[in-house]
Amino acid sequence: MTAAQADLQIDRPAVADGAALWRMARDSKVLDLNSSYSYLLWCRDFAATSAVARDEHGEPVGFVTGYVRPDRPGTLLVWQVAVDEAQRGRGLAAALLDGLVARTAPEHVETTITPGNTASERLFTSFAERHGARLEREVLFDTGLFPDGPHDPEVLYRIGPLSFTPAA
Ligand SMILES: CC(C)(COP(=O)(O)OP(=O)(O)OC[C@H]1O[C@@H](n2cnc3c(N)ncnc32)[C@H](O)[C@@H]1OP(=O)(O)O)[C@@H](O)C(=O)NCCC(=O)NCCS
Repeated sequence: MTAAQADLQIDRPAVADGAALWRMARDSKVLDLNSSYSYLLWCRDFAATSAVARDEHGEPVGFVTGYVRPDRPGTLLVWQVAVDEAQRGRGLAAALLDGLVARTAPEHVETTITPGNTASERLFTSFAERHGARLEREVLFDTGLFPDGPHDPEVLYRIGPLSFTPAA
């Protein structure tokens, strides 16, 4: 058992967690901050494809949000991952990701990463290595597609095939 798993509990988010997810995204200063409404809605409608890590008081200290692509039901798209600064570097993001894929058992995992986000690149590259899966990269949304000022390109990471037995 890793340090991350020893004193933290990983489960599905509830609507009451939406505010904490929004705050973690804001405080990361790296993630695109979406409206608080979107995090509340996510916690209601996409809880089955998302995960939250809680401290001993039940407070969220990390999260991963995702959805199953409607036109590719075997693909879990991981939308955002964030871990409280104080909890970083102890395997929590990896544990959140592993827990979520064990629960949802996708054939492929996709995510987009902006070039230079080393921690995120490492998180997903390690995930692919750990599960013996191929990793393909291609630019999904180039800079010019974004309407709201300069935005880094979003590079798609597609990982798979994966073979998981769904968690009981
Ligand atoms: C990315 C983030 C979620 C990682 O959380 P974490 O709990 O510290 O990550 P883990 O401890 O599980 O580490 C996962 C892997 O990333 C590596 N890693 C973590 N932080 C790193 C850093 N700052 N620089 C380089 N590698 C890093 C770890 O060494 C590990 O790789 P390994 O398995 O090969 O050893 C966290 O840094 C964060 O919240 N960042 C801000 C938000 C963000 O960028 N989210 C990702 C975009 S969706």
